[in-house]
Amino acid sequence: MSVHHDPHTGLHSEPGALAGEHRGRAAEPIIKVHDLAWLEFEKPDLERAEAFAHAFGFTTALRTAHELQLRGTDPGSPCVLIRRGPRSRFVGPAFRAADSTDVLRLADAVGGAVVPLPESLGGITVDLLDPSALGVRVVSDMFELPALSDQTPLPLNFGHDRGRVNAPQRPPRAPATVQRLGHVVLQTTTYLETLNWYLEHLGLIVSDFLFYPGQRARGPIMSFIRCDRGATPTDHHTLAMVLGPANRYVHSAYQVADLDCLAAGGEYLLDRGYRRSWGIGRHIQGSQIFDYWRDPDGFMVEHFSDGDLFDSTLEAGWAPMTASGLSQWGPPATKDFLGLNPGRESLQELRAIVHALRADNEFDLHRLRGLLKVASS
Ligand SMILES: [Fe+2]
Repeated sequence: MSVHHDPHTGLHSEPGALAGEHRGRAAEPIIKVHDLAWLEFEKPDLERAEAFAHAFGFTTALRTAHELQLRGTDPGSPCVLIRRGPRSRFVGPAFRAADSTDVLRLADAVGGAVVPLPESLGGITVDLLDPSALGVRVVSDMFELPALSDQTPLPLNFGHDRGRVNAPQRPPRAPATVQRLGHVVLQTTTYLETLNWYLEHLGLIVSDFLFYPGQRARGPIMSFIRCDRGATPTDHHTLAMVLGPANRYVHSAYQVADLDCLAAGGEYLLDRGYRRSWGIGRHIQGSQIFDYWRDPDGFMVEHFSDGDLFDSTLEAGWAPMTASGLSQWGPPATKDFLGLNPGRESLQELRAIVHALRADNEFDLHRLRGLLKVASS
Protein backbone atom coordinates (compact mmCIF):
# COMPACT_ATOMS: atom_id res chain seq x y z
CA MET A 1 0.00 0.00 0.00
CA SER A 2 0.95 3.62 -0.18
CA VAL A 3 2.89 3.58 3.11
CA HIS A 4 5.70 1.62 1.47
CA HIS A 5 5.59 3.34 -1.89
CA ASP A 6 8.86 5.00 -2.76
CA PRO A 7 7.88 8.17 -4.63
CA HIS A 8 11.26 8.26 -6.32
CA THR A 9 10.58 5.22 -8.43
CA GLY A 10 9.41 6.35 -11.83
CA LEU A 11 10.86 9.84 -11.63
CA HIS A 12 11.56 11.69 -14.82
CA SER A 13 15.21 10.61 -14.73
CA GLU A 14 14.15 6.95 -15.08
CA PRO A 15 14.73 5.27 -18.46
CA GLY A 16 12.55 6.62 -21.26
CA ALA A 17 10.67 4.96 -24.08
CA LEU A 18 11.18 1.31 -24.99
CA ALA A 19 11.65 0.29 -28.62
CA GLY A 20 8.48 1.01 -30.61
CA GLU A 21 6.86 3.22 -27.95
CA HIS A 22 5.51 6.72 -28.55
CA ARG A 23 8.36 9.18 -29.07
CA GLY A 24 6.48 12.07 -27.49
CA ARG A 25 6.95 14.56 -30.31
CA ALA A 26 5.93 14.98 -33.95
CA ALA A 27 8.61 14.73 -36.65
CA GLU A 28 7.36 17.83 -38.47
CA PRO A 29 4.80 19.87 -36.53
CA ILE A 30 2.99 22.63 -38.43
CA ILE A 31 4.07 25.30 -35.89
CA LYS A 32 5.57 25.41 -32.40
CA VAL A 33 3.50 27.55 -30.01
CA HIS A 34 5.34 29.57 -27.35
CA ASP A 35 2.98 29.32 -24.39
CA LEU A 36 -0.53 28.90 -23.06
CA ALA A 37 -2.05 32.39 -23.34
CA TRP A 38 -5.38 32.13 -21.48
CA LEU A 39 -8.40 29.97 -20.63
CA GLU A 40 -12.00 30.89 -21.45
CA PHE A 41 -15.01 30.06 -19.27
CA GLU A 42 -18.71 30.86 -19.07
CA LYS A 43 -20.27 31.40 -15.64
CA PRO A 44 -23.71 32.63 -14.58
CA ASP A 45 -22.51 34.73 -11.61
CA LEU A 46 -19.61 37.08 -12.39
CA GLU A 47 -19.79 38.76 -8.95
CA ARG A 48 -19.24 35.43 -7.21
CA ALA A 49 -16.48 34.51 -9.68
CA GLU A 50 -14.68 37.81 -9.12
CA ALA A 51 -14.87 37.55 -5.30
CA PHE A 52 -13.20 34.12 -5.42
CA ALA A 53 -10.68 35.30 -8.03
CA HIS A 54 -9.48 38.11 -5.75
CA ALA A 55 -9.20 35.78 -2.73
CA PHE A 56 -7.24 33.36 -4.97
CA GLY A 57 -4.82 36.14 -5.96
CA PHE A 58 -5.93 37.34 -9.41
CA THR A 59 -6.19 41.00 -10.40
CA THR A 60 -9.15 42.20 -12.47
CA ALA A 61 -7.98 43.44 -15.86
CA LEU A 62 -11.45 44.26 -17.21
CA ARG A 63 -14.97 44.06 -15.81
CA THR A 64 -18.18 44.72 -17.71
CA ALA A 65 -21.75 43.51 -17.19
CA HIS A 66 -21.03 40.51 -19.43
CA GLU A 67 -17.34 39.79 -19.03
CA LEU A 68 -14.57 39.44 -16.49
CA GLN A 69 -10.90 39.35 -17.51
CA LEU A 70 -8.41 38.22 -14.86
CA ARG A 71 -4.64 38.60 -14.93
CA GLY A 72 -1.51 37.81 -12.96
CA THR A 73 1.32 40.25 -12.22
CA ASP A 74 3.41 39.16 -15.24
CA PRO A 75 3.15 41.43 -18.30
CA GLY A 76 1.09 40.17 -21.26
CA SER A 77 -2.52 39.19 -21.90
CA PRO A 78 -5.09 38.42 -19.20
CA CYS A 79 -4.91 34.72 -18.34
CA VAL A 80 -8.56 33.92 -17.55
CA LEU A 81 -11.54 35.23 -19.57
CA ILE A 82 -15.01 34.66 -18.10
CA ARG A 83 -18.16 35.57 -20.03
CA ARG A 84 -21.61 35.60 -18.41
CA GLY A 85 -23.47 32.48 -19.55
CA PRO A 86 -26.50 30.42 -18.55
CA ARG A 87 -24.39 27.69 -16.87
CA SER A 88 -20.80 27.13 -15.74
CA ARG A 89 -18.74 25.78 -18.58
CA PHE A 90 -15.11 25.57 -19.71
CA VAL A 91 -14.96 26.99 -23.24
CA GLY A 92 -11.35 26.24 -24.17
CA PRO A 93 -7.69 27.23 -24.09
CA ALA A 94 -5.80 29.77 -26.21
CA PHE A 95 -2.15 29.17 -27.11
CA ARG A 96 0.22 31.99 -28.02
CA ALA A 97 2.01 31.53 -31.36
CA ALA A 98 5.56 32.82 -31.86
CA ASP A 99 4.21 35.43 -34.30
CA SER A 100 1.39 36.18 -36.76
CA THR A 101 3.16 34.24 -39.55
CA ASP A 102 2.67 31.06 -37.53
CA VAL A 103 -1.05 31.81 -37.02
CA LEU A 104 -1.39 32.23 -40.81
CA ARG A 105 0.63 29.07 -41.49
CA LEU A 106 -1.58 27.03 -39.15
CA ALA A 107 -4.79 28.49 -40.62
CA ASP A 108 -3.51 27.63 -44.11
CA ALA A 109 -2.70 24.06 -43.13
CA VAL A 110 -6.14 23.34 -41.63
CA GLY A 111 -8.18 25.49 -44.02
CA GLY A 112 -9.24 27.79 -41.19
CA ALA A 113 -9.80 31.55 -41.13
CA VAL A 114 -7.70 34.12 -39.31
CA VAL A 115 -10.00 36.56 -37.50
CA PRO A 116 -9.43 39.51 -35.17
CA LEU A 117 -9.75 38.95 -31.42
CA PRO A 118 -12.09 41.22 -29.39
CA GLU A 119 -10.96 44.85 -29.15
CA SER A 120 -10.17 44.55 -25.44
CA LEU A 121 -7.46 41.97 -26.25
CA GLY A 122 -6.14 43.07 -29.65
CA GLY A 123 -4.42 40.63 -32.01
CA ILE A 124 -5.63 37.73 -34.16
CA THR A 125 -6.74 34.14 -33.75
CA VAL A 126 -7.34 30.98 -35.70
CA ASP A 127 -10.05 28.92 -33.97
CA LEU A 128 -9.66 25.15 -34.21
CA LEU A 129 -11.41 22.06 -32.84
CA ASP A 130 -9.26 19.32 -31.31
CA PRO A 131 -10.34 15.67 -31.90
CA SER A 132 -12.34 15.66 -28.65
CA ALA A 133 -14.34 18.65 -30.03
CA LEU A 134 -12.80 21.22 -27.68
CA GLY A 135 -12.37 24.71 -29.15
CA VAL A 136 -8.69 25.70 -29.24
CA ARG A 137 -7.48 29.17 -30.23
CA VAL A 138 -4.01 29.97 -31.48
CA VAL A 139 -3.38 33.70 -31.07
CA SER A 140 -0.78 36.42 -31.61
CA ASP A 141 -0.21 40.19 -31.52
CA MET A 142 -2.37 40.96 -28.46
CA PHE A 143 -1.94 44.16 -26.43
CA GLU A 144 0.61 43.72 -23.68
CA LEU A 145 -0.60 44.70 -20.21
CA PRO A 146 2.29 46.14 -18.13
CA ALA A 147 3.76 44.17 -15.21
CA LEU A 148 2.18 44.73 -11.77
CA SER A 149 3.99 44.73 -8.44
CA ASP A 150 4.45 41.22 -7.10
CA GLN A 151 4.94 39.45 -3.76
CA THR A 152 8.66 39.27 -2.93
CA PRO A 153 9.91 35.83 -1.85
CA LEU A 154 10.86 35.92 1.86
CA PRO A 155 14.58 35.98 2.77
CA LEU A 156 15.20 32.50 4.25
CA ASN A 157 17.85 31.11 6.57
CA PHE A 158 18.84 27.83 4.86
CA GLY A 159 20.59 25.61 7.43
CA HIS A 160 23.88 27.32 8.21
CA ASP A 161 23.37 29.80 5.39
CA ARG A 162 22.00 32.59 7.62
CA GLY A 163 21.30 35.82 5.79
CA ARG A 164 18.32 36.99 7.90
CA VAL A 165 19.45 38.43 11.27
CA ASN A 166 17.55 40.72 13.68
CA ALA A 167 14.48 40.44 11.48
CA PRO A 168 11.54 38.16 12.45
CA GLN A 169 9.79 36.21 9.71
CA ARG A 170 6.23 37.48 9.21
CA PRO A 171 4.61 36.29 5.96
CA PRO A 172 1.34 38.21 5.59
CA ARG A 173 -1.92 36.20 5.62
CA ALA A 174 -2.95 37.62 2.27
CA PRO A 175 -4.06 36.22 -1.08
CA ALA A 176 -1.21 34.38 -2.83
CA THR A 177 -0.63 36.83 -5.66
CA VAL A 178 -0.99 35.05 -9.02
CA GLN A 179 1.98 35.73 -11.32
CA ARG A 180 0.85 33.82 -14.39
CA LEU A 181 -1.10 30.89 -15.83
CA GLY A 182 1.03 27.72 -15.80
CA HIS A 183 -0.97 24.82 -17.21
CA VAL A 184 -4.35 23.25 -17.92
CA VAL A 185 -5.25 19.57 -17.55
CA LEU A 186 -7.88 18.01 -19.86
CA GLN A 187 -9.57 14.61 -19.83
CA THR A 188 -10.49 13.00 -23.15
CA THR A 189 -12.11 9.79 -24.40
CA THR A 190 -9.77 9.85 -27.41
CA TYR A 191 -6.45 10.37 -25.61
CA LEU A 192 -3.94 9.15 -28.19
CA GLU A 193 -5.67 10.78 -31.16
CA THR A 194 -6.00 14.07 -29.27
CA LEU A 195 -2.41 13.98 -27.97
CA ASN A 196 -1.07 13.43 -31.49
CA TRP A 197 -3.18 16.32 -32.77
CA TYR A 198 -1.56 18.74 -30.28
CA LEU A 199 1.93 17.43 -31.10
CA GLU A 200 1.36 17.78 -34.86
CA HIS A 201 -0.53 21.08 -34.90
CA LEU A 202 1.07 23.05 -32.04
CA GLY A 203 4.52 21.42 -31.85
CA LEU A 204 4.09 20.52 -28.17
CA ILE A 205 6.42 17.81 -26.81
CA VAL A 206 5.85 15.22 -24.07
CA SER A 207 7.85 15.56 -20.83
CA ASP A 208 6.38 12.48 -19.09
CA PHE A 209 4.05 9.63 -20.02
CA LEU A 210 2.03 7.65 -17.48
CA PHE A 211 0.54 4.20 -18.08
CA TYR A 212 -1.87 2.09 -16.00
CA PRO A 213 0.08 -0.30 -13.75
CA GLY A 214 0.53 -3.57 -15.66
CA GLN A 215 -0.73 -2.02 -18.94
CA ARG A 216 2.42 -0.40 -20.35
CA ALA A 217 2.15 -2.55 -23.48
CA ARG A 218 -1.29 -1.01 -24.16
CA GLY A 219 0.33 2.42 -24.37
CA PRO A 220 0.19 5.58 -22.26
CA ILE A 221 -3.01 7.02 -20.75
CA MET A 222 -1.65 10.36 -19.58
CA SER A 223 0.97 12.83 -20.71
CA PHE A 224 2.50 16.00 -19.36
CA ILE A 225 3.28 18.19 -22.36
CA ARG A 226 5.48 21.27 -22.76
CA CYS A 227 6.16 23.89 -25.41
CA ASP A 228 9.17 23.36 -27.69
CA ARG A 229 11.15 26.60 -27.56
CA GLY A 230 14.47 24.98 -28.40
CA ALA A 231 17.18 26.03 -25.92
CA THR A 232 14.78 28.32 -24.01
CA PRO A 233 13.56 26.41 -20.93
CA THR A 234 9.78 26.08 -20.52
CA ASP A 235 7.44 24.68 -17.84
CA HIS A 236 7.57 20.87 -17.51
CA HIS A 237 3.91 20.93 -18.56
CA THR A 238 1.76 23.61 -20.14
CA LEU A 239 -0.90 21.05 -21.05
CA ALA A 240 -1.60 17.67 -19.47
CA MET A 241 -3.97 15.19 -21.03
CA VAL A 242 -5.51 12.08 -19.51
CA LEU A 243 -7.72 9.30 -20.89
CA GLY A 244 -11.13 9.09 -19.20
CA PRO A 245 -14.79 8.35 -19.78
CA ALA A 246 -15.75 11.97 -20.69
CA ASN A 247 -14.24 14.99 -22.41
CA ARG A 248 -13.80 17.59 -19.68
CA TYR A 249 -11.70 20.20 -17.91
CA VAL A 250 -9.77 18.74 -14.94
CA HIS A 251 -7.87 21.71 -13.48
CA SER A 252 -5.72 24.74 -14.25
CA ALA A 253 -2.67 26.02 -12.35
CA TYR A 254 -1.33 29.47 -11.53
CA GLN A 255 2.18 30.35 -10.34
CA VAL A 256 2.79 32.19 -7.05
CA ALA A 257 6.11 33.47 -5.64
CA ASP A 258 7.07 30.85 -3.04
CA LEU A 259 5.90 28.30 -0.45
CA ASP A 260 5.09 30.94 2.20
CA CYS A 261 2.91 32.90 -0.23
CA LEU A 262 1.16 29.68 -1.25
CA ALA A 263 0.58 28.46 2.34
CA ALA A 264 -0.47 31.84 3.78
CA GLY A 265 -2.71 32.37 0.73
CA GLY A 266 -4.29 28.99 1.50
CA GLU A 267 -5.09 30.09 5.06
CA TYR A 268 -6.62 33.25 3.59
CA LEU A 269 -8.90 31.18 1.32
CA LEU A 270 -9.94 28.92 4.23
CA ASP A 271 -10.71 32.01 6.36
CA ARG A 272 -13.15 33.09 3.66
CA GLY A 273 -14.89 29.73 3.58
CA TYR A 274 -13.46 28.38 0.32
CA ARG A 275 -12.78 24.65 -0.05
CA ARG A 276 -9.35 23.06 -0.43
CA SER A 277 -9.35 20.00 -2.71
CA TRP A 278 -5.83 18.68 -2.00
CA GLY A 279 -2.60 20.13 -0.64
CA ILE A 280 -0.06 21.23 0.31
CA GLY A 281 2.44 18.86 -1.30
CA ARG A 282 5.16 18.48 -3.92
CA HIS A 283 4.40 16.71 -7.20
CA ILE A 284 6.64 14.18 -8.92
CA GLN A 285 5.97 14.97 -12.62
CA GLY A 286 6.93 18.66 -12.79
CA SER A 287 8.08 18.79 -9.11
CA GLN A 288 5.81 21.76 -8.27
CA ILE A 289 4.81 22.61 -4.70
CA PHE A 290 1.01 22.48 -5.13
CA ASP A 291 -2.25 23.42 -3.42
CA TYR A 292 -5.61 22.60 -5.10
CA TRP A 293 -8.87 24.52 -4.54
CA ARG A 294 -12.49 24.41 -5.74
CA ASP A 295 -13.89 27.67 -7.03
CA PRO A 296 -17.59 28.44 -6.31
CA ASP A 297 -18.58 26.88 -9.66
CA GLY A 298 -16.81 23.61 -8.78
CA PHE A 299 -13.84 24.12 -11.13
CA MET A 300 -10.53 22.91 -9.68
CA VAL A 301 -7.73 25.51 -9.62
CA GLU A 302 -4.16 25.14 -8.35
CA HIS A 303 -1.57 27.44 -6.81
CA PHE A 304 1.94 26.23 -7.63
CA SER A 305 5.52 27.30 -7.01
CA ASP A 306 9.00 26.02 -7.89
CA GLY A 307 8.15 23.91 -10.97
CA ASP A 308 10.67 22.15 -13.24
CA LEU A 309 11.88 23.92 -16.39
CA PHE A 310 13.04 21.80 -19.34
CA ASP A 311 14.61 22.81 -22.66
CA SER A 312 13.80 20.77 -25.78
CA THR A 313 16.65 18.26 -25.32
CA LEU A 314 15.00 16.08 -22.64
CA GLU A 315 13.20 12.97 -23.91
CA ALA A 316 9.91 11.79 -22.40
CA GLY A 317 9.99 9.79 -19.14
CA TRP A 318 7.68 6.80 -18.48
CA ALA A 319 6.06 5.83 -15.17
CA PRO A 320 3.00 3.93 -13.87
CA MET A 321 0.01 6.06 -12.75
CA THR A 322 -0.78 5.59 -9.07
CA ALA A 323 -2.52 7.81 -6.50
CA SER A 324 0.52 7.64 -4.20
CA GLY A 325 2.77 8.54 -7.15
CA LEU A 326 1.08 11.95 -7.53
CA SER A 327 3.31 13.51 -4.86
CA GLN A 328 6.73 13.19 -3.22
CA TRP A 329 5.38 14.59 0.06
CA GLY A 330 2.07 15.93 1.32
CA PRO A 331 -1.20 14.43 2.55
CA PRO A 332 -2.61 11.46 0.57
CA ALA A 333 -4.53 12.46 -2.56
CA THR A 334 -8.09 13.24 -1.49
CA LYS A 335 -11.31 11.71 -2.81
CA ASP A 336 -12.25 15.15 -4.08
CA PHE A 337 -9.01 15.46 -6.09
CA LEU A 338 -9.39 11.92 -7.48
CA GLY A 339 -13.05 12.59 -8.38
CA LEU A 340 -14.33 9.90 -5.96
CA ASN A 341 -16.40 12.11 -3.64
CA PRO A 342 -20.00 10.89 -3.59
CA GLY A 343 -22.11 13.58 -5.25
CA ARG A 344 -23.31 14.98 -8.51
CA GLU A 345 -19.87 14.95 -10.14
CA SER A 346 -19.09 11.30 -9.42
CA LEU A 347 -22.59 10.31 -10.55
CA GLN A 348 -21.99 12.15 -13.84
CA GLU A 349 -18.65 10.34 -14.18
CA LEU A 350 -20.35 6.98 -13.55
CA ARG A 351 -22.91 7.71 -16.26
CA ALA A 352 -20.05 8.78 -18.53
CA ILE A 353 -18.27 5.45 -17.90
CA VAL A 354 -21.34 3.45 -18.96
CA HIS A 355 -21.71 5.62 -22.05
CA ALA A 356 -17.98 5.56 -22.92
CA LEU A 357 -17.77 1.75 -22.71
CA ARG A 358 -20.50 1.49 -25.36
CA ALA A 359 -19.17 4.22 -27.66
CA ASP A 360 -16.37 4.09 -30.22
CA ASN A 361 -13.38 5.62 -28.41
CA GLU A 362 -10.24 4.61 -26.51
CA PHE A 363 -11.96 4.00 -23.15
CA ASP A 364 -12.68 0.24 -22.95
CA LEU A 365 -12.96 -2.41 -20.21
CA HIS A 366 -9.17 -2.80 -19.89
CA ARG A 367 -8.89 0.94 -19.33
CA LEU A 368 -11.73 0.93 -16.78
CA ARG A 369 -9.92 -1.82 -14.83
CA GLY A 370 -6.73 0.27 -14.94
CA LEU A 371 -8.55 3.39 -13.79
CA LEU A 372 -10.15 1.60 -10.85
CA LYS A 373 -6.73 0.38 -9.67
CA VAL A 374 -5.20 3.86 -9.65
CA ALA A 375 -7.13 5.23 -6.67
CA SER A 376 -6.09 2.36 -4.40
CA SER A 377 -2.44 2.24 -5.48
FE1 LIG B 1 -1.47 20.75 -11.93
